[in-house]
Amino acid sequence: TYVIAQPCVDLKDLACVEECPVDCIYEGNRMLYIHPDECVDCGACEPVCPVEAIYYEDDTPEQWKDYYTANVDFFTDLGSPGGASKMGKIDKDHQFIAALPLQIH
Ligand code: F3S
Ligand code: F3S
Repeated sequence: TYVIAQPCVDLKDLACVEECPVDCIYEGNRMLYIHPDECVDCGACEPVCPVEAIYYEDDTPEQWKDYYTANVDFFTDLGSPGGASKMGKIDKDHQFIAALPLQIH
């Protein structure tokens, strides 16, 4: 799967959402999260993020490794909705993201 990391927090450019052919990039309050089972690893989202927040899981920079867990665990209670657009903004964040101080870009 691909992973969205720290540069997205409190920025949410949303360019990635337009690119995903399977609509598996879900919006939380402070960042977006890629569904690990719905993502087909096409990689289309990665180059369009202006702040380089998106990585293939194995290529996620060491300091952002926790974001893999954040992306996966975000969906623990949601299951596999099968499409982000119909969900709209989901009123939560992973607890680790929710606890971060405001990120200034
Ligand atoms: Fe975030 Fe980059 Fe997408 S800032 S919303 S991962 S385009
Ligand atoms: Fe979509 Fe990016 Fe995966 S475009 S299919 S989230 S690699």
